[in-house]
Amino acid sequence: MEKPSKIAPAKGKLGVLLPGMGAVSTTFMAGVELVRKGKSQPVGSLTQMGTIRLGKRTEGRSPLIHKFVPLAELKDLSFGGWDIFKDNAYQSAANAGVLNPQDLEKVKPFLSTIKPMKAAFDHDFVKLIDGPNIKKGKNKYELALQIKEDIANFRKTSRVSRLVTCWCGSTESFVKPEDVHSTPEKFVEGMKSNHPSIAPSMLYAWASVTSGVPYANGSPNLSVDIPAMQKLALDHNVPICGKDFKTGQTLIKTVLAPAFKARMLGLDGWFSTNILGNRDGEVLEDPGSFKTKEESKLSVLEYILQPQLYPKLYGKMCHKVRINYYPPRGDNKEGWDNIDIFGWLGYPMQIKVDFLCRDSILAAPIVLDLVLFMDLAQRAGMRGIQEWLSFYFKSPMTAPGLYPEHDLFIQSMKLKNTLRWMKGEDLITHLGQEYYD
Ligand SMILES: NC(=O)c1ccc[n+]([C@@H]2O[C@H](COP(=O)([O-])OP(=O)(O)OC[C@H]3O[C@@H](n4cnc5c(N)ncnc54)[C@H](O)[C@@H]3O)[C@@H](O)[C@H]2O)c1
Repeated sequence: MEKPSKIAPAKGKLGVLLPGMGAVSTTFMAGVELVRKGKSQPVGSLTQMGTIRLGKRTEGRSPLIHKFVPLAELKDLSFGGWDIFKDNAYQSAANAGVLNPQDLEKVKPFLSTIKPMKAAFDHDFVKLIDGPNIKKGKNKYELALQIKEDIANFRKTSRVSRLVTCWCGSTESFVKPEDVHSTPEKFVEGMKSNHPSIAPSMLYAWASVTSGVPYANGSPNLSVDIPAMQKLALDHNVPICGKDFKTGQTLIKTVLAPAFKARMLGLDGWFSTNILGNRDGEVLEDPGSFKTKEESKLSVLEYILQPQLYPKLYGKMCHKVRINYYPPRGDNKEGWDNIDIFGWLGYPMQIKVDFLCRDSILAAPIVLDLVLFMDLAQRAGMRGIQEWLSFYFKSPMTAPGLYPEHDLFIQSMKLKNTLRWMKGEDLITHLGQEYYD
C-alpha cells in the first residue's frame, strides 16, 4: 500500500457504534465520560497516554501520540449500540458491576440516555442467554438491512460526520469459513436463504462495511474475518480488524513466551485456567462458544514459539486452556498459569502466574484506542485488514497466507512504525550504529 499523502482532519463528531452493550461497552462509555469530566485518567490507553519517539535518540523528540497524529478528541465522541436486553447503558453498567456505584452515579444522566437499538440475534449462536429486544425479519438479509437503516438513522440524528463500529457482543458458537463466506455475492445469497453458517455478528459487519463504516471485532467470532467481508472492505474503502481483545492472560502470555524464545529456553507445557463470573463467563459455559474462545487463546503459543523451527525446545509442548464460570467473582477474573520450562542441559523449572485482573477494565481502553485508530486509518485512506492493530488482539487478522505476529513487542513496534510511516517520519529499526560512527 502507498503511504498516505495526506490525512484528512478529524472534523466534526465521531459516532461509536457498539453491537453488545454489556460489561466492556458500558465500562468504555462510562470511562470516556469520566475522563471528559476530568474525574479520572484514561489509564491503559495508548492513544491518550502514550508517546512516540521520533528520529534519533539524541533528538529528544517524543510527542504524545494524540498530538503526533490527528485523532478524534474525546469530546467529539457520540455513542450508540444494540443489545438483546432493553437496559440503558446505566442499568447495564450497574448490572455488570464493574464500576463502583460512586463512579457510576457521576455519569448516570449521560449513560441513561444511551438506549440499545433492537438486536439481530440468533439463539443458536449464543445458547445461554435470551432477551426481548430483538429485530424481526423474514431472513438474515432483512435483518442486515435493518441494521443498515439503524446506522443511517444514528448518523443523521446524532449529527456525526464519521462512524466506527466495534463489536462488543457475546462470543458466538464456533463457525468455520465456508463457501457461503467466500464472495460478497454468495454471502448475500446466504443471508437471503438463512444459511446456518451466517452468524448475527456477520450481519452487523456486513451492514457496517457496506455503509462505509470501519469495523473492529472484539470477540473471537469470525465476523469480518472471511473473504467476502475483506473484499467488501476493499470495495467500500473501509478498514477492518480483529479478532478478540487481548486483555488479561493472553497479554501476559505474549509477553512471557517471546522472552523464553529470545533466550532459547524450552517449554514442556503451559496450563492456563480462568475463573470468571460475568455474563461473558456465562456465555462461555456453552461448549460452542467456548470452542470459539479456545481456538483464539490456543493459537498464540504455536505462532510465537515456532516449534517447526525449534523442535528440541518446543516440539513436545502441551498447551491447555480452561475457562470456568464462577459467579462470585463477577467481572474480576482470576487467571492462573502454570508454566513448565527447561534450561541448560534440559533441567526443568516452573513459573506460576496468578493474575487477579478486571476483564472490562483491561478491555475498555482497547475499545477506545481501536475506535480512534480505525477512524484515523479511514481518514488516511487505508482500507481492508489493519494488521498494524494486531497489538490489541488475541487472534490478529492478516492477509491470506501470512502468519500472524503475536509477540507484543513486535506488535507495538509495528503499530508505532505505522504511525511514523503515515506521517513521513523515519522508521525506527533500533540498529543504532550511527551513534558509534
Ligand atoms: N477482557 C474482556 O472483557 C474481553 C477480552 C476479550 C474479548 N472479550 C469479548 O468481548 C465481548 C464482550 O464482553 P463482555 O464482558 O462485555 O460481555 P457481556 O456478556 O457483558 O456483554 C455482551 C453483550 O452482548 C449482547 N449480545 C449478544 N448477542 C448480541 C447480538 N447479536 N446483538 C447485540 N447484542 C448482543 C449480550 O446481551 C450482552 O449484553 C465478548 O465477546 C467477549 O468474549 C472480552
